[in-house]
Amino acid sequence: KVDACIFDLDGVIVETSDAHFKAWQRLAKSLGISFGEEFNEQLKGVSRRKSIEKILALDDRELPEEEIQQLMDKKNGWYQDAIAELTPDDILEGVPSFIESLQGMNIPLGIGSSSKNAPYIIDYLQLNDTFEVIIDGTKVENTKPDPEVFLKGVKAMNADPSKTIVFEDAVSGVEAANNGGFMSVGVGSEEYLGDADLVVPNFIGLTPKELFEKLSDE
Ligand code: G6P
Ligand code: MG
Repeated sequence: KVDACIFDLDGVIVETSDAHFKAWQRLAKSLGISFGEEFNEQLKGVSRRKSIEKILALDDRELPEEEIQQLMDKKNGWYQDAIAELTPDDILEGVPSFIESLQGMNIPLGIGSSSKNAPYIIDYLQLNDTFEVIIDGTKVENTKPDPEVFLKGVKAMNADPSKTIVFEDAVSGVEAANNGGFMSVGVGSEEYLGDADLVVPNFIGLTPKELFEKLSDE
């Protein structure tokens, strides 16, 4: 039986990874550091702070704290300009009907995101009334793969992790769900998300009933 569902936001409900990636690449370039698409998988799901640490580590670079803060602010400014364009039309295909079906089954829904921009994105997408619990990057101390964000979510929903499904597009997010004892569904490529209990390419044509059956077969 499924008590609750927790959705990651970026890459599951809406595609923002390109905007994150472009902003990080622009910042890295200004520092003389370069990286490709492959590295982007490692930036998904992890906090802004952890991301810049990973980028600086590519070049064994150490910078004073003040400069790190300035760089993060710069990246976030570019990123916020990009997401300000989001509208409800940007909700990924298949997501609205999947969510409506869950609501029809009275299953409580939550968001578990590492992003401090999650409240803005949810506003732009007009999803404020859809999720009963929203845990974002402003509410946690430890970034994914630590399960804190999801554990705070189930607690607020009075649910049990073992009966809660977490939907994640990030390697770090699937690990976080597994570390917290959740049922994990990877949304995206089997190539990266193979540690999830189940991987689906996206929500198009997927029904909760079909998904629950596949999960219980695992
Ligand atoms: C999401 C994205 C990450 C991003 C993190 C923090 O998890 O997948 O790429 O680094 O949020 O985002 P923020 O908006 O707080 O910089
Ligand atoms: Mg994500």
